[in-house]
Amino acid sequence: MIYENILVEYQDQIAVITINRPKALNALNSVTIQELTDSFNELAGDANIRTIILTGSGEKAFVAGADIAEMSDKSPIEARHFSQLGHKLMNLIEALPQPVIAAVNGFALGGGLELAMACDIRLASTNAKFGQPEVGLGILAGFGGTQRLPRLVGSGRASELLFTTDLIDAQEAFRMGLANHVYPKEELLGQAVAMAKKISSKAPIAIQLTKSAIVKGENLDLLSGQGYEAEVFAQTFSTEDQKNGCKAFLEKRTTDYQGR
Ligand code: CAA
Repeated sequence: MIYENILVEYQDQIAVITINRPKALNALNSVTIQELTDSFNELAGDANIRTIILTGSGEKAFVAGADIAEMSDKSPIEARHFSQLGHKLMNLIEALPQPVIAAVNGFALGGGLELAMACDIRLASTNAKFGQPEVGLGILAGFGGTQRLPRLVGSGRASELLFTTDLIDAQEAFRMGLANHVYPKEELLGQAVAMAKKISSKAPIAIQLTKSAIVKGENLDLLSGQGYEAEVFAQTFSTEDQKNGCKAFLEKRTTDYQGR
């Protein structure tokens, strides 16, 4: 598929999606949100792709938020629709069979932080900055920020970020658990690819079910979460990869997982 605002590249079993509107600091307008939705939907059905990396183009930004120019004249009804369009994309990322790594290469603000938070893992470059500036525009975080940020960092820290609009740097994001690792800018993508390769070498169905248990578990009490975990644990025992993986361990050798 040809896209206007994103690039999709492939490296073996890894897809790298780059949001490519550097002049607008990769702000999310409706076209970009739709293109991301289309590309993730396409990758969801591609069994050859085992891990996805999401990053931004240019020197400065991962994504500097929803596109303020496009958004500013919306009516309340249009604004609700725009928020729902964002939610649809974020929820799609969480529902994908493949893990998604956000390589946060600069500003991740507003909708940009919300997009990063919908990914499974966030890696940051030393120049990355995170924040939710929406209330400084008279609006609020509308792509899931009021819901995902408290779940990730706790309601006290989330409230501070959402109420003050203060930006935090990569080290602070790391301390909060918002970024898994921080790397020099020039190493970020290489480190993301290295992690993606490691993930891609493991059993894909087991990874997919682990992801779904983590995502589902966020919204379940412990007992219900364990109930779901037992179900998906059982499902892995109907796969060839489980047979081969356990056998290989017992025979002290490695195996290539086939995703079946
Ligand atoms: N939407 C549209 N355009 C944006 C943008 C955004 N979110 N962020 C930056 N841009 C544009 C600027 O308008 C500017 O365009 P021009 O060159 O045509 O003037 C260009 O990108 C470069 O930006 P700056 O000149 O501002 O760059 P800077 O280095 O001086 O500042 C910045 C960088 C601090 C990130 C600043 O651009 C900024 O504050 N951006 C807005 C951040 C923001 O408020 N994000 C939240 C958006 S609302 C939202 O996301 C709602 C939601 O949850 C759904």
